[in-house]
Amino acid sequence: MKRVIEVIGGDGNLSKIAVGDVLSTLSEWLPEGKRVIIITDANIHRNYQTLIDQYENIIIGFGETNKTLQTVEKVCSKLIELNVDRSCFILGIGGGIVTDVTGFIASIYMRGLKFGFVATTLLSQVDASIGGKNGVNLDGYKNMIGVFNQPEFVLCDTAILKTLPNREFKAGMAEIIKAAMISDHDLFEKLENLDATTLKNNPELLAEIITAAIEIKAKIVMADETEQGVRKKLNLGHTFAHAIEKCSHNSSLHGEAVSIGVVIISDLALRMGHITEEYRERVVNLLTKFELPTTTDIKTHKLLKALRSDKKREANGISIILPVGYGSCNIVHMSFDELNLHFV
Ligand SMILES: NC(=O)c1ccc[n+]([C@@H]2O[C@H](COP(=O)([O-])OP(=O)(O)OC[C@H]3O[C@@H](n4cnc5c(N)ncnc54)[C@H](O)[C@@H]3O)[C@@H](O)[C@H]2O)c1
Ligand SMILES: [Zn+2]
Repeated sequence: MKRVIEVIGGDGNLSKIAVGDVLSTLSEWLPEGKRVIIITDANIHRNYQTLIDQYENIIIGFGETNKTLQTVEKVCSKLIELNVDRSCFILGIGGGIVTDVTGFIASIYMRGLKFGFVATTLLSQVDASIGGKNGVNLDGYKNMIGVFNQPEFVLCDTAILKTLPNREFKAGMAEIIKAAMISDHDLFEKLENLDATTLKNNPELLAEIITAAIEIKAKIVMADETEQGVRKKLNLGHTFAHAIEKCSHNSSLHGEAVSIGVVIISDLALRMGHITEEYRERVVNLLTKFELPTTTDIKTHKLLKALRSDKKREANGISIILPVGYGSCNIVHMSFDELNLHFV
């Protein structure tokens, strides 16, 4: 079964997200008669070579260290070499690294080409490829250079996740649990009765869960595409996650850091009286059920120090997303001094 979710960008452009058995329909999503250039990584190329080699393709390197302006420059040079112009279509096939880089390149090369994604990790299906944020890192700071620009389409095929390493699958679950905590307690309760193996082996159920998470994000993005307000809620758990990623020099996967970040912020919400002990326990139990980490060896004072260099800091503080009840959270501005007091 196929489900389609629509995101209408600020410029009125319609972006369609299809979930389910959709990779076989790729040619129907591509614009007729246009030259298609694929950007992907070597793992995806190895696993889906027959499909990818039907088109001209460019392979980029793995991981955050390749989500850079150097990669953008190299790919743009390659596009010039291939005589790619604005009549061509760019297709990113990969996880969040590939889709972030591809969306950015397609937005700036010759002032912008149409583009689409085949999202190949669970994290990119439910989060990274959705919502039109495209960009790269600079000087060790994540996503410092980027644009808001919606892809024409995003294909989220559940079968493509079969080759995804288990650790990456579980990391994607952290973003789904985060989404449920933001605004869908029914989804949270559904997840409490599932586990990673059951989901991985049940494509129909998996598609249902992925769709629910995408719907949460799509609704928020349509209300606030450029993150002036409500979109900040999608950063639940991320303030501390970014600090963990920074202090652990990216040895934790992003989703793993988000899992720990969600627990740290739930603990804070509990101490501030916003949530009950019971809800905090349920959050920890759910993350544990999906075999995600919930604690870190990194000392709190180190994390708090790292927060002070967060790119999302505002004057002397930062916006924290606090759970305030089942399927609900608030954006709270806190000074660093106030935040420190809550952790002594
Ligand atoms: N733009 C956004 O709104 C947004 C949101 C969340 C995260 N992100 C970004 O996403 C990035 C992380 O993305 P990710 O978690 O998808 O990681 P990733 O792109 O690094 O992919 C993880 C690994 O899995 C491999 N892989 C991908 N799909 C596979 C498949 N189907 N089978 C086998 N191997 C496969 C990749 O080659 C890679 O080694 C981060 O840079 C993060 O900042 C962006
Ligand atoms: Zn995230």
